[in-house]
Amino acid sequence: MNFELTQEQSMIKKMMREFAEGEVAPGAEERDRTKAFPEEVFSKLGELGILGLPFPEEYGGGGSDTISFAIVVEELSRVCASTGITYSAHISLGGAPIYLFGTEEQKQKYLTKICSGESLGAFGLTEPNAGSDAGGTETEAIEEGNDFVINGSKCFITNASYAQFLALTAVTGRNEKGEKEISAIIVPTDADGFTVLDQYEKMGLHASNTTELVLENVRVSQDHLLGNRGEGFKQFLQTLDGGRIGIGAMAVGIAQGAYEKALQYAKERKQFGKTLSQFQAIQFKLADMAMKIELARNMVYKAAWMKDQGKSFTKEASMCKLFASEMCMEVTSQAVQIHGGYGYMKDYHVERYMRDAKLLEIGEGTSEIQRLVIARQIGCS
Ligand code: CAA
Repeated sequence: MNFELTQEQSMIKKMMREFAEGEVAPGAEERDRTKAFPEEVFSKLGELGILGLPFPEEYGGGGSDTISFAIVVEELSRVCASTGITYSAHISLGGAPIYLFGTEEQKQKYLTKICSGESLGAFGLTEPNAGSDAGGTETEAIEEGNDFVINGSKCFITNASYAQFLALTAVTGRNEKGEKEISAIIVPTDADGFTVLDQYEKMGLHASNTTELVLENVRVSQDHLLGNRGEGFKQFLQTLDGGRIGIGAMAVGIAQGAYEKALQYAKERKQFGKTLSQFQAIQFKLADMAMKIELARNMVYKAAWMKDQGKSFTKEASMCKLFASEMCMEVTSQAVQIHGGYGYMKDYHVERYMRDAKLLEIGEGTSEIQRLVIARQIGCS
């Protein structure tokens, strides 16, 4: 067993720390306030060559591994969670299903654009009536000649305004038992009848793009089918396994950033003639925060390692997502607490970390759904 990062992973961590401090952190507060998408940051991430990091070089990717992907998400989220989620969804929800299930032609056509940053990656699973019950898909794709004609809507879709295309789930028929046949179809976002609605007003992650999609008689040829007909639901659940590692990494990064700010503040702020860091009540809070971040990071890296080894990692992905997101909520709340009244003020940034953290207990499967997945994985029925 070896807990050291490889030379390449250490190099990526160092590079991303410098990039995040120099290029992402300075605008984070303003982007949160103005809800401006980090477009400039993304073009610079493209110049760094990491927009296709874990995908093979033949598609323009970096040929790297999932731990490196997690490190990038962690370092971006440590200073700006909106940038972290944009990157995480780009790779794990946008690029991954095309890489995993696409034909060679689809990979050449679409995955290459994701790796180059020509298109941001997104996927469409959730619907107004299909949230935790992701199989409750109502969007329909009816066969007409050589085409699918798609009608329906998708909600809470990350990155959709900046995606040239996305894979989405739709009901393409029913089996003999009357059960829905759900398939994944790649749809260009500029297709006639495809509308990306305005940004939602959210609690946090203000600079991340989240929108609703409406499809009215959107017509695509059947060669837009991703993988086999009827396998869309399973493909998307498999995609979410990878996405949950990204959310776990985001949680570690956000918590790390909030913890560092709280530690620094505790060393500087004096009350009753001593710094806060000299009071055991605050020391114990900081010790617990440091320990839980370390534990969550180990869980995220282990799930990522299992994915790279080709092992089943559904349980580990859910465990790391669940533990890390709940840890992140606790750590960011304690970071605000340590700052006292100042923590409640925008100037000290930790309130942003706390608002951003909440999404991690909800997105890509709520904490309740993660417990359900883990319970099934350990044999409860
Ligand atoms: N990988 C591959 N296949 C899987 C799988 C996985 N991780 N998990 C289950 N499957 C298979 C099952 O084996 C089963 O196959 P069979 O039909 O052959 O037996 C099939 O998929 C259906 O599985 P279940 O019976 O377990 O399905 P279910 O309806 O009970 O639902 C669930 C399972 C875990 C609750 C699932 O619906 C789920 O994860 N829900 C949460 C969805 C979610 O995370 N949504 C957030 C998406 S994020 C988003 O949309 C916005 C964005 O941009 C970020």
